[in-house]
Amino acid sequence: MTAEQPSAASAPTDLAPLVDALTLEQKVALLTGADFWTTTPIPAIDLRAMVLSDGPSGVRGPTWDERAPSLNLPNATSLGSAWDRDLARRYGAAAASEARRKNVDVVLGPTINLHRTPFGGRTFEAFSEDPILTAELAASYVEGVQSGGVAACSKHYVLNDSETDRFTVDVRTDERTLREVYLPPFEHAVTRGAAWSVMSSYNSVDGVTMSENDLLETPLSSEWGFDGVVISDWTAVRSLAAASAAQDLAMPGPGGPWGPALVDAVRSGEVDESAIDRKVLRILGLARRVGALGESQVRGGDDSPALDGPAFVREAAAAGTVLLRNTGVLPLVAPELTTVAVIGHNARTARTQGGGSATVVPEHVVSPLDGIRAALPKAAVTYAVGAVVQEGVAELAPTTLTHPRTGEPGLLVRFLAADGTELYSEDRRSTALVWFGGDAPLAETSQVVLQLTLTPAETEDVELGFATGVHGTIAVDGEVLVDDTPVVEGTDLGAAFLSPPSLTAPVRLVAGEPRHIVATFDVSADRGQLSNAFSVTLGTAPAAADADALIAEAAAAAASADVAIVVVGTNSAVESEGFDRTTIDLPGRQDDLVRAVAAANPHTVVVVNAGAPVALPWREDVAAIALGHFGGQEFGAALADVLLGRAEPGGRLATTWPATSDDAPVTDVVPATDGTLRYDEGLHIGYRAWLRTGREPAYPFGFGLGYTTWSFDSVESNESADGGATLRVQVTNTGGRSGKQVVQVYAERPDSALERPVRWLAAFASAYAEASESAIVEIDVPARAFEHWDGGWQREPGLFTVRVGASVTDLPLRITR
Ligand code: BGC
Repeated sequence: MTAEQPSAASAPTDLAPLVDALTLEQKVALLTGADFWTTTPIPAIDLRAMVLSDGPSGVRGPTWDERAPSLNLPNATSLGSAWDRDLARRYGAAAASEARRKNVDVVLGPTINLHRTPFGGRTFEAFSEDPILTAELAASYVEGVQSGGVAACSKHYVLNDSETDRFTVDVRTDERTLREVYLPPFEHAVTRGAAWSVMSSYNSVDGVTMSENDLLETPLSSEWGFDGVVISDWTAVRSLAAASAAQDLAMPGPGGPWGPALVDAVRSGEVDESAIDRKVLRILGLARRVGALGESQVRGGDDSPALDGPAFVREAAAAGTVLLRNTGVLPLVAPELTTVAVIGHNARTARTQGGGSATVVPEHVVSPLDGIRAALPKAAVTYAVGAVVQEGVAELAPTTLTHPRTGEPGLLVRFLAADGTELYSEDRRSTALVWFGGDAPLAETSQVVLQLTLTPAETEDVELGFATGVHGTIAVDGEVLVDDTPVVEGTDLGAAFLSPPSLTAPVRLVAGEPRHIVATFDVSADRGQLSNAFSVTLGTAPAAADADALIAEAAAAAASADVAIVVVGTNSAVESEGFDRTTIDLPGRQDDLVRAVAAANPHTVVVVNAGAPVALPWREDVAAIALGHFGGQEFGAALADVLLGRAEPGGRLATTWPATSDDAPVTDVVPATDGTLRYDEGLHIGYRAWLRTGREPAYPFGFGLGYTTWSFDSVESNESADGGATLRVQVTNTGGRSGKQVVQVYAERPDSALERPVRWLAAFASAYAEASESAIVEIDVPARAFEHWDGGWQREPGLFTVRVGASVTDLPLRITR
C-alpha cells in the first residue's frame, strides 16, 4: 500500500533542534516502548521514560498488584448513562489524580468505540451507541484528564466495535457512515478535547491494518489538527510499512518490527527519515506536555485539590444509575423496613468493573449487600444467593491466607529457574495474580509456585482450583488435588491471558482447620510476545448445588421480608475483553430466580449489575428495576443511596435495551470467510436501527425514570451564527421532590432526498428543578447536527424538524427550523 505522506504541519516544530541533536538510532529507539508500559528515555536530552497505563475506568499503574491498589471508577456505560459532560470531566480529572499518584503520564482511555451491537464484548468499556453522546463525553473526559497534566489516549481508532478476530478483522463501511457515525467521537476528542494522544486499533479498515492506515493522517491530523502521538494498541504495529504511515509509537517494547530494521530501512531509503522525525517531534511534544522533557520534570504539574476518590465514585455511580421501572416501591422508606431480603450472587460478589485490560485492583469494594446493610442498621437484612452466576474460580478470601514463611497474612510466590533455583519471590496478599510487565523475571522463569496456608472461615464443600492458560498442579497438605492443563478456547492470546479457563476438584474445608497449599505452574513454554506476562487465579468455584433448592430458599426469604432486593448480573465469562457475546440472556438460573422471588413478594426490586444490555423477561412482573451497571468500588453504597432516595437515579439509557437476543437489529460480529466484517446497516445502528425496523425494544435509548415527574412545556429556537441553533426549553418538575431531567434534542428530516435515520440525537443538557418549579435550559444545537457527509459536510436545503423530550420515543415538543 502507499501510505499517505504525513504532513509536518501540526507537529511541535520548536522542538526540531532537539530532534536534530539525536542520532538515527536514538530516534528509532524512541519509537518503540522500552517495555510493556514505558517509553524509551534519552538522558542526553533530558527525556525521561513516560509511563502509560490502562484505563479507562481508573488507572491500574505499571503493575497489576493488590499492593498498589487503584480507584475503581464506575464503568463507561454508567458514565455514559449520566449524560453529564461535567461529570465526565470530573471523572477524567479523577483518573488524572490517580495517574499522578501512580506516576503515570498517559491514561489509556477513554474507550470511544460505539455499541454497534449489544453483542460487542467490550460494550461495558464504551459509553454509548450514539456518536454524539459518545463524542461529547469523550471530549469532556479528555479535558478532565489533561487538565491534570496527564495525557488521555482515546481508543481504539477506529471501527473496533467488536472483538471477534479483533487482530485481523477487516471492517468495511462507507465513507458517509464513517464520517457521521464512527469518527465523531474521535473528532470531538481532538477538536474540543485537544487530545494529546490517540490509540490506533488492531483491526483493518478497507483492507489496511489501522497502524498503517491513511485514516491516521486524514482526517485525524490533516483535518482535525491533531498534533499528538498515535500510540499503537499493544502489538498492533506489525511491519516496517507502519513507519511510513502516521503511526508514531509502537507499544509495547522492547522488540517489535521497528528496531534495528527501521534504522536500516531509513539508511536504504525505504523509509523517509522525515517520517521518523515527525514521530520523534510528536513524542517529544507529548513528553513536554506531561512534564517528561527538560530540566524541570514535574509529572502532571497540577495543583488541583486532593481527590476524595470513594466519594466521587459513589456520586458518579448514583448519577449513572438508570431507574427502568418503579410502581411506587422506590424510594424505600428506611423507618418502615423491618426485614429486607437481599438476594443474588452479585449482591454479595458484585461486578464493579468489566474484565480484561481495563481491570484495576481496588483497595476495597462495597457490595450491594454491604451497602444495604450499612444503610439500614435497624432492619434485619437477610442474604440468599438464589442462583449461581460465577463461572470458574474466584480468588480466596485474603483474610483466610497466611504466608508460610513470615506467618503474616498473604502468600509466597516463587519464580524458579529450570534447575529449581529461586530467581525471585514476592509476598502477596491476593491469590488473583497478574504479571503484565513489572519486575518478575518471567521470561527466564520455568515454574511459578504459590505457597500459603488457608484457614477457612466456614465449613463447606467447595471446588478448589485455578484459572490460567498453562499446566498447573495444586497440592493440599502434600496431596495432589489437580494436575492438568486447562483447554484454552479461541486464538485471542489476550482473552486466554486475561480471562483464562479454570480447573478445579472438590474438597471439604472445615472452619478454622488450616490447609497447606502449594500450587505450581509451568511457564517454561515460549509464549511469544506474552513471555513476560502471566496470570493465574487460585481460588474456589461454587460447589455443585441444587439450583431449585437455592431458588426456593431465596423465595422463602423474600416471602417473609418487607421488601426483596434481587441483584442479577453477568460474570467475567460473559463481559470481558477478547471475545464477543452470543446472547444477552442472564447467565444461570437468574430469570427463574427473579420470577420466584417476585411471586413470593410483590415488593421485589431488581438491581441489574451488567455493563451491557441483558434480557429482563420478567420486567413487567416486578415492582422496580434499577440498572446499576458496573458501579465501581462504592457500588453498594451508591445503590443504597438510590434505593433509599438519598440520591436521585440520575441515569438515562445510553444504549437501547432489547427485549430478547433475537430482537436486536444489528448482531453480526463474526467476520465473513474473507475476513471482512461489513457494516451493511450503514448509518442505522442503535436506536436508529430500531426506529427503522419499527420494532419495540424493552427500553428505548434515552429512557430512565427519576423520583419525580416532569412536563416539557415549550421550546423556542434562535439561529446561531454558525448555522446551528440555540434552544430555550422550559420544563417543569411536576412531582413532589427535586430532581434531574435529561433534556434530549433530536433532529428529523422526513422529506429528505437522502437516506437518513428516522431521527438522530442532536444535543442534550440536564435540567434541575425543585418540586413544582420550572427550569429553562439553553441548549446549543451545532450546525453539524443538520449536516450530512458527501465528500465534505453539506446541508440539504429546506427545514428540519427538531424534537425535544425525555427519550428517543418520548418527544412532546417540536419545532421546525
Ligand atoms: C487493549 C487496549 C489496552 C492495551 C494495553 C489491548 O489489548 O485492546 O485497550 O489499552 O491492550 O493493555
